[in-house]
Amino acid sequence: MKNEVSHPSSGVTGRVQKIIREYGERKWGLIPLLQRVQEEIGYIPKETVEPIADSLRLFPSQVQGVISFYSQFSTEPRGRNIVRVCRGTACHVRGGKTILKLVKRHLSIDEGQTTPDLEYTLETVACIGVCALAPNIVISNRVFGHMNPKKLEILLRKGKE
Ligand code: FES
Repeated sequence: MKNEVSHPSSGVTGRVQKIIREYGERKWGLIPLLQRVQEEIGYIPKETVEPIADSLRLFPSQVQGVISFYSQFSTEPRGRNIVRVCRGTACHVRGGKTILKLVKRHLSIDEGQTTPDLEYTLETVACIGVCALAPNIVISNRVFGHMNPKKLEILLRKGKE
């Protein structure tokens, strides 16, 4: 018997089951299915791993392995805005560490965490390839260079308005 998706929010359950049915029938494969769930729900709820595996005749550990391998997938809710602070060498020597500390303080979260209102998720990344602008942060895929405490405060305050 197939596992049913159970989630405290029946809206999420229904949406994931619909995607599983749609993709299971098409046999498009695991990654497009995961991408669709991530896109639709914002993350891949842990309880959906087994039903997803069942629908594609895979082991849950195989599905979990793919989710863990690709950083685009997450089994935890993520914020609408992903804030990435560069921890590459050029950014680090030009104050990246302070920038990270200030972002953490401003958002009251640590690396890998999401604000309770699901507005921001904080991550660090290796060099993003624009070292000349160091130190850099990336918010929702937009690079903000030559970051300093003042610019950062204005940027994050704007995001909260
Ligand atoms: S080290 Fe940050 S962009 Fe290269």
